[in-house]
Amino acid sequence: MPDTATPTAPQGAGQIVTIERIGNVALVALDNPPVNAAGQALRAALIAAIEALEGTVAAIALYGKGRSFIAGADIREFGKPPQAPSLPEVVNRIEASTTPVVAVLHGVALGGGLEVALGAHARVVAGSVTVGFPEVTLGILPGAGGTQRAPRLAGVGPALDLITTGRRIGAAEAQSLGLVDRIEAGAPRDVALAMAEALAAGSLPHRRTSEIEVVPDPAALTAAEDTVTRRQPQLFAPRRCIEAVAASLRPIAEGLAEERRLFQQCIDSPQRAALVHAFFAEREVAKIPEAGATAREVAHVGVIGGGTMGSGIATAALLAGLRVTLNERDAAALDRGRATIEKNLAGAVKRGKLDAARRDDILRTALQTSVRLEDFAEVDLVVEAVFEDMAVKKEIFTRLDAIAKPGAVLASNTSYLDIDEIAAATSRPGDVLGLHFFSPAHVMRLLEVVVAAKTAPEVTATGFALARKLGKVGVRAGVCDGFIGNRILSHYRKAAEYMVLDGATPWEVDAALQDFGFAMGPFAVMDLAGLDIGWATRKRLAPTRDPRERYSPVADRICENGWFGRKTGQGYYLHGDAAPKPNPEVARIIEAARAEAGITPRNFTADEIVTRYMTAMIAEGARVLEDGIALRPVDIDAVFLFGYGFPRFRGGPMLYADTIGAGQLAARIEDFAREDPFYWRVPALIRRLAETGGSFADLNRGEE
Ligand code: 3HC
Ligand code: NAI
Repeated sequence: MPDTATPTAPQGAGQIVTIERIGNVALVALDNPPVNAAGQALRAALIAAIEALEGTVAAIALYGKGRSFIAGADIREFGKPPQAPSLPEVVNRIEASTTPVVAVLHGVALGGGLEVALGAHARVVAGSVTVGFPEVTLGILPGAGGTQRAPRLAGVGPALDLITTGRRIGAAEAQSLGLVDRIEAGAPRDVALAMAEALAAGSLPHRRTSEIEVVPDPAALTAAEDTVTRRQPQLFAPRRCIEAVAASLRPIAEGLAEERRLFQQCIDSPQRAALVHAFFAEREVAKIPEAGATAREVAHVGVIGGGTMGSGIATAALLAGLRVTLNERDAAALDRGRATIEKNLAGAVKRGKLDAARRDDILRTALQTSVRLEDFAEVDLVVEAVFEDMAVKKEIFTRLDAIAKPGAVLASNTSYLDIDEIAAATSRPGDVLGLHFFSPAHVMRLLEVVVAAKTAPEVTATGFALARKLGKVGVRAGVCDGFIGNRILSHYRKAAEYMVLDGATPWEVDAALQDFGFAMGPFAVMDLAGLDIGWATRKRLAPTRDPRERYSPVADRICENGWFGRKTGQGYYLHGDAAPKPNPEVARIIEAARAEAGITPRNFTADEIVTRYMTAMIAEGARVLEDGIALRPVDIDAVFLFGYGFPRFRGGPMLYADTIGAGQLAARIEDFAREDPFYWRVPALIRRLAETGGSFADLNRGEE
């Protein structure tokens, strides 16, 4: 009969650890849904189970119920007071057991989950498993012996690779590295029973990992340091990972103590808080008011427009296993669209994301092209990605209304235009929403799901289900010019342009923001995206521009020369075969603009550049919240993390805002407002938080 070992499990909780004694062996099943995170209750129950069984049976097998072995430590506990027993204590206790223990892995065994397995005396995979040390992506290091035991089993080089990259690997690679001993077919419990019996019978070898000698590999340590310095100079955790692995050459007790010390440093670092915030941001954004609505089935997607975005969106849908019909204005444009999709898929094959046979299959059976919109009668969901022109979009939606089957979802990929107005061109506005992809659409993870006034809840739910299917992060946005991301971008880009007018160079601005951690500075991004896009938007908005708004003519002057950035060979930068170089012609344009406006240029330090830029971003973020365009601050963070190259180790603009504090932000804005009271205004929300001592984190928790 199963008995339980849940002495400290919370009242009312299920049996987090269950023991089954069968003959002379025991099975210990872990059951902490959804992913078997090693929270305090699981840790306590696991130690209790080992202590209850040690010496009473010939062998013990640990396995996970549900979808995984153990997904790792409970990330929600980080930054809170530690609760005994710690995970290292659990792992050490398992390893010290005088009765041999085999860990049977399935689903995932990540971070602390893999560390528990490394503490066992043998490791066997049931079916398939993903293992790895994702800790570094959360700003920490494997803190339950992983940095000491992985080098003992796999060698210093492979351990450094896994620990500093967070790379996740499958069973075969784990076996070839020595991290697992065997791969068996079968359900976890069946494999657990067979392996416990094999241990008891002496046919499954076992040993204590910490008793294995580490083979020194100074070259691997130096190489890892070089890689980290080159690729991630701003990150704190990767270096601590290397230091911890280096300590594995010492006796195990000393190495474990050093690992603990470095782990604690990481836990205390602001980067850890930001990276954990980013982890949860990705998941929090799915919590929307429409989450209860039933998404409509989407198997066949229609894409209108095979340009930059349409071909990327089609590629993303094809990669996710959907059928796609692509529509263009004429056969030549269709051919260009198809060629781009083929190129994108070839890239996926090259990167190992898709095999060549599957690619051929997709191109043969899943992709159709047509110049006739009438061929969209059977599609489940349409994404329109034609020119950014309201008249063209309205005409398309009116036609779609007549063609699409009842219940088809009609989406626009517009960057800025009013989805309500587009929806009004149909007789079924409930079926219309914005699905704002980011370029390149088959790579960038963000998808703004723009909910218009009449969008039906199940249509919004369908947008989120599609995001999940495509492996994207769906973020709910309301209708306004630019939704969440581009609205905020339009605002802070002006701050960058004003700084250039007042004395900074575009290249200084880019360098300062790159040093802050952005993948690229704003001027380099504009060159990449095409300066013509912003130019068209400025022309569209010119009639409604407030005369009090300061206006920099620099970007328009660059465009008037036909210089649209990378695609024309020059913009803010000169783009040749070598790395982009500052464009001296742009320096002359800036000088002329300053002279015209009677501006005496002044110097801007990198700090000043970052301060103004980030303050502008946060201020518009606050207004986006006030207007209800974003549900929560964390939604804005996710938009910037997954769509705008915001440094993940800073968690997003609104988390960053909390590190400054609302009072300080209000004071900064008031200070800047002395120069330009139209642009710099303290948002009511920041004012309120400053007065009440509140934070954006409070708003995320629904407290205020
Ligand atoms: N701790 C706490 N909660 C976790 C968690 C963890 N380690 N892993 C997942 N969750 C939560 C998610 O937040 C989500 O909660 P929600 O439903 O309330 O949003 C729920 O579990 C399901 O997660 P996903 O939506 O991500 O489910 P998937 O099936 O897509 O993915 C997964 C499952 C592969 C396990 C993925 O969640 C994952 O990669 N988790 C993180 C694994 C990790 O980083 N482990 C290392 C932790 S650090 C550590 O172990 C330190 C140690 O060295 C001391
Ligand atoms: P693009 O100019 O590269 O492609 C537009 C395509 O639409 C062209 O191939 C054109 O032939 C086709 N087209 C025009 N009218 C058509 C019609 N009536 N029927 C069928 N096809 C038609 O433009 P891009 O960059 O792909 O932008 C498309 C939309 O996506 C725009 O609304 C834009 O604002 C939006 N967007 C653009 C992003 C970008 O970075 N380029 C990012 C996110 C959204």
